[in-house]
Amino acid sequence: MSKERDEMIAELESKLSDIQRQNELLEKQLKQVERERVEYLQNVSHQLVAPLNAIKWHIENLRASRMDVERATKVLRSIYSQSTIAVHLAKNFALMSNLEADHALAAMTEPLQSMSLCSLLINLSDDFQPLGWDKGLQIGVDTKGFEDAPQVLAIKPLISQVFSNIIENAVKYSDRDTEIRIYGKHEREIDSVSVSIRNRGIPLPDSVDEVFQRGYRSAQAKNQYPAGTGFGLYIAERIVAIHEGEISAERDAMNATVFTVTLTVSGLKGKARIRGPKDRFAN
Ligand SMILES: Nc1ncnc2c1ncn2[C@@H]1O[C@H](COP(=O)(O)OP(=O)(O)OP(=O)(O)O)[C@@H](O)[C@H]1O
Ligand SMILES: [Mg+2]
Repeated sequence: MSKERDEMIAELESKLSDIQRQNELLEKQLKQVERERVEYLQNVSHQLVAPLNAIKWHIENLRASRMDVERATKVLRSIYSQSTIAVHLAKNFALMSNLEADHALAAMTEPLQSMSLCSLLINLSDDFQPLGWDKGLQIGVDTKGFEDAPQVLAIKPLISQVFSNIIENAVKYSDRDTEIRIYGKHEREIDSVSVSIRNRGIPLPDSVDEVFQRGYRSAQAKNQYPAGTGFGLYIAERIVAIHEGEISAERDAMNATVFTVTLTVSGLKGKARIRGPKDRFAN
């Protein structure tokens, strides 16, 4: 009887220490998540303050000094560039909070709209061109392949942020005085429209898919732009996934970087909204 009791106690003790170990592990993980969250918040607010301060400074300059039209035009261009960055960062922040909150995009409940990818890319390239000029970059949209492509069904603000993240990277990571080329095509056989963004600059990592991992930043990227979260392409991938599309990165034969996003033309027809199954996004 006492042997049985001793065995039971030993078993209970071993279970208890298992639970304690698991508990310690969970506490550690929780602390890590909290640390990451704080770091992320600090990083984003730090990044947001920079363009906002620059805008304030430019406006003060405009008010205080008499400048010629050419100089004033340049200052206005800088204000525009910095606002583009601030808006871009704030949108990523909202999307990231969304993803962190429930592992899914609450914005998925937004309605799908027919949209022309060609028009979207023309507008985005206009938005980012002033930032490009600061580095002598030219952003060119080659409309030939996709101006007549059918419209795709998508959640417009989300798809816009996908391309915005890719173009912003291209601007950040390009060598000075190079060209960013955007082109697209209607792929009839697979009933899709694909858009590619090509730039020349710091290299992609050897295992290119790493760039889509949450928080990944290459050493060169960190070196060139210490501020950055490594969440831009992770967000892009999640958004493309809920649209049942594809996103890929590659180094082409000329060693340039090419990001391609492919979206279905009729795959989402009949769906007013898209709601990916939650477990698809669970980590
Ligand atoms: N056009 C590109 N050329 C070379 N490397 C790239 C390019 N775009 C992305 N990368 C690599 O992929 C990493 C992840 O990109 P992502 O947009 O997710 O984060 P980030 O740009 O570092 O930070 P954030 O977008 O938060 O400012 C980058 O740090 C960089 O190493
Ligand atoms: Mg980025």
